[in-house]
Amino acid sequence: MTDQGKINREGARPASLFERADATYGLDPRRTAPKLPDVPPVPETVRRAAPAPQVEPRPGSSAKPAPPPSAPKAVAFCGPFVRIDREHLRVAGLIVPEDPVTGLLEEFRIIKRELLADARAGDTPLARRILVCSPHPGEGKTYCATNLAIALAAERNLEVLLVDADVVKPSVAERFGLEADHGFMDALADPAILPESLVIRTDIDGLFVLPAGTATARDAEYIASARTGEVLDRLTQGAPDRIIIFDTPPALAASPAAELAQHVGQALLVVRANETSRAALEDAQQLLSACGDIKLLLNATRYSPSGRRFGTYGMKGN
Ligand SMILES: Nc1ncnc2c1ncn2[C@@H]1O[C@H](COP(=O)(O)OP(=O)(O)O)[C@@H](O)[C@H]1O
Ligand SMILES: [Mg+2]
Repeated sequence: MTDQGKINREGARPASLFERADATYGLDPRRTAPKLPDVPPVPETVRRAAPAPQVEPRPGSSAKPAPPPSAPKAVAFCGPFVRIDREHLRVAGLIVPEDPVTGLLEEFRIIKRELLADARAGDTPLARRILVCSPHPGEGKTYCATNLAIALAAERNLEVLLVDADVVKPSVAERFGLEADHGFMDALADPAILPESLVIRTDIDGLFVLPAGTATARDAEYIASARTGEVLDRLTQGAPDRIIIFDTPPALAASPAAELAQHVGQALLVVRANETSRAALEDAQQLLSACGDIKLLLNATRYSPSGRRFGTYGMKGN
């Protein structure tokens, strides 16, 4: 399936988690998920006011036609700057950027390479938005989303924005040891809020966090509203080196993952080896079908084709 995959089958390296999931479930959503062939590209600009009417120059008039609008500039993230306690990361089982290379980092490097390749091949803001989801709670969505964000942020010149879209059980800020009151839901609920002003800048180079924000009874409606597309366009416009990762609630328990699937180019469906049923996987896949590229990620498995342990990843419960 991937170059890494080919190497893996020859026994030189452990298989990527994508490939393991494929083998375990015998289905490859990248092939089976309905592709949306003609999804119109998400508009690059946020239209805050109706455009001024175009006035045709009068015949003989020397007035020149207005120049085409210039490409939108990327907004700079301008929320608070925080330092992330590296010991807190270690305790939470997350990659610590300055530590020696671990098996965990190696695993997420393999995963990020595949996602980055597809993000760059797509070359649209949509392709650079990645949803991390799973059928049920506790399957490792936040664990994978946070580790993936840290691994991606290590790429030179890449900005990674991790958005906590699980407002019912927000945990991204807590995993990083951050205090956060406002975030994604506030920006969706109030059009006067500039989303970039809520993005926390961290001392991990390239890593930015948009916390979940304030929960309300109308969260599902806010996420389903047109404002979501506007906020995401604003955060991605003019920024080809920016990746957005969404940590979401379980697909089978709440609607946000299915709604957000319309706004992303790739979805990572996290499954627990030997725990997530095939039926649950297929239901989740169906719910996320607005995204044309769903990848499986097998979490917490003992599987190792070479017979040796591969870091600590997947060794939970040993
Ligand atoms: N591969 C793994 N290795 C070690 N711990 C893991 C792994 N995957 C998940 N966990 C832990 O399991 C718990 C549940 O994972 P979490 O990411 O919060 O699930 P979800 O976001 O899907 O509800 C967390 O404490 C997390 O750190
Ligand atoms: Mg979670």
